[in-house]
Amino acid sequence: MCGIVAYIGDELAGPILFDTLKRLEYRGYDSAGVAIKSDEKIEVFKSVGRIADLEKVYTGLGCPGDCMGIGHTRWATHGKPSDKNAHPHTSGEIAIVHNGIIENYLDLRDLLMEMGYEFLSETDSEVLAHLIHFYYKGDLFEAVCKALERVEGSYAIAVLAASSPYLVCARKDSPLVLGKGENAIYVASDVPALLPYTKDVIRMRDGEISRVYADRVEMMDLAGMPQPIQMERITWDADAAERGGYPHFMLKEIHEQPRAIRETVAGRISEIDGDVRLDLGMSDEELEALERVVIIACGTSYHAGLLAKYLFARAAGLPVDVEVASEFQQLQVRPRTLLLGITQSGETADTLLALKKAKTCGLPSLAITNVVGSTVTELVGSTIYTRCGPEIGVAATKTFTAQLVALILLSIRLGRARGHLTPDQARKMLIELTRLPGLVQRVLEKRETLREIAETYAGAGCYFFIGRDYLYPISLEGALKMKEIAYIPSEGYAGGELKHGPLALITEKTPVVALATCGKKIQSNIKEVRARGADVIALATEGDPDIGKVASVVIELPETRPVFSAVLATVAVQLMAYYTANKLGLPIDKPRNLAKCVTVE
Ligand code: F6R
Repeated sequence: MCGIVAYIGDELAGPILFDTLKRLEYRGYDSAGVAIKSDEKIEVFKSVGRIADLEKVYTGLGCPGDCMGIGHTRWATHGKPSDKNAHPHTSGEIAIVHNGIIENYLDLRDLLMEMGYEFLSETDSEVLAHLIHFYYKGDLFEAVCKALERVEGSYAIAVLAASSPYLVCARKDSPLVLGKGENAIYVASDVPALLPYTKDVIRMRDGEISRVYADRVEMMDLAGMPQPIQMERITWDADAAERGGYPHFMLKEIHEQPRAIRETVAGRISEIDGDVRLDLGMSDEELEALERVVIIACGTSYHAGLLAKYLFARAAGLPVDVEVASEFQQLQVRPRTLLLGITQSGETADTLLALKKAKTCGLPSLAITNVVGSTVTELVGSTIYTRCGPEIGVAATKTFTAQLVALILLSIRLGRARGHLTPDQARKMLIELTRLPGLVQRVLEKRETLREIAETYAGAGCYFFIGRDYLYPISLEGALKMKEIAYIPSEGYAGGELKHGPLALITEKTPVVALATCGKKIQSNIKEVRARGADVIALATEGDPDIGKVASVVIELPETRPVFSAVLATVAVQLMAYYTANKLGLPIDKPRNLAKCVTVE
């Protein structure tokens, strides 16, 4: 996904822009560019490929007055990856970087062409540069306001003019953060890019536009009305956004799961009451009156939603519909429905749009997200935050297990409010929950065994993951991880469904990972695939007397309640996918064609 940065201050802009752009690489990109104001002129450098390629074409180092600039990493949406389509886009003395989609760009483009503007790119963003140029009569802020009034769609922008002493930034439905340094302001799409420079940040809100000077920010709405500025102190250190000694962010983040789980649970449970403290913005009576939950999510977050289907039914007697956000049509309005959006980034366009659509029914709504102040939090009534710190690897790992934990907490709260769980039943679940980080740690300690198995099968042309019950969503998640980082075609299947078609794909060349900690039924599915010659790697509960008789290899996971064993199995399949991709020498943290945060439909 595109990333934006900007800088204004006393230092040379170029190196700071490159450094902050590199810190946004995890969002995925195909080209990059910077525009630097130098001696009342704007110099633009662009390149397809990595930031390192851009640095090679950058010749501006050391220009006097080079202390203001904007930069961009582009993930193509309108127009293929090319130097021309890369940002910044310019019009006269104006340069802009944009993240988002200008929906009415074709109309605006026609209009601007009639006025004589020449378009050099195929992007929707270039219209913004020309539109701002059209309105620019010496007051950049006013010109940007006027231009944005004409624009339909989403944007986070940073704008530079050769004759303007300040930068302009604006946001609507796309994240933008300003960081305050010593006589310097740093701008980025995301906080981790800013952490080496400052921990004091201002998250711009939708509809805000700012005049950014080195020593101050003036925040307004599009009508020019001053808006309050909320400075936030980031408590993660810069190290939290670095690899911390691991070869990849993904491996680091897999190992951070005990802490992420501990922090997601911290302060939220009361063993004495046998209950959970969550601010859901609804009374117990309202929770009791609920008749169903509709969950909207994408990708890995969707898999978390699928697990909630089993969990909420059992713990709270609540039926759950789980919807893939991009396929969400229209909610059948049924009162007493709770809407739940799950999105680690809080910015996934499909999820946000589906939630917006669903919300028109006036239902109570909740979100589970990892990003404080992200757009989803503005859409819903209340938010449950997972507390993982930033996740940099494109493949979701710690945010997924923390989502599962947040859902377990929510299920207990719902179960207690609805009288479906007794305090004693809830207490037992909570005690087990507090053991979970330690159990995850024990799975992490099996990394060498998992690595050896992964490396043995790294040459497979196709993988299967099978599971039942709580482990069915985890089989989907295991297959997704194997696909996205190891590029191995993989299927996640409910064990019982194999015989309804996919068994035809099973041969002696198809390794099957059987998630076997929930019940014995999976053993007959293991026998089915063994009979077709497949090797079966079973993830089973320690001491299971039977599994060794049916599986080719057994990895023992600590004994726990079934729903918690889903978390343990997740960690094991994450490690398998990781070591497979590592053996194949693939770019694990930035898999091809993928972006960390998908802010387009
Ligand atoms: C897979 C992965 C994606 C995301 C999906 C939704 O590892 O990370 O499938 O889960 O793009 O992202 P969020 O949770 O940010 O809405």
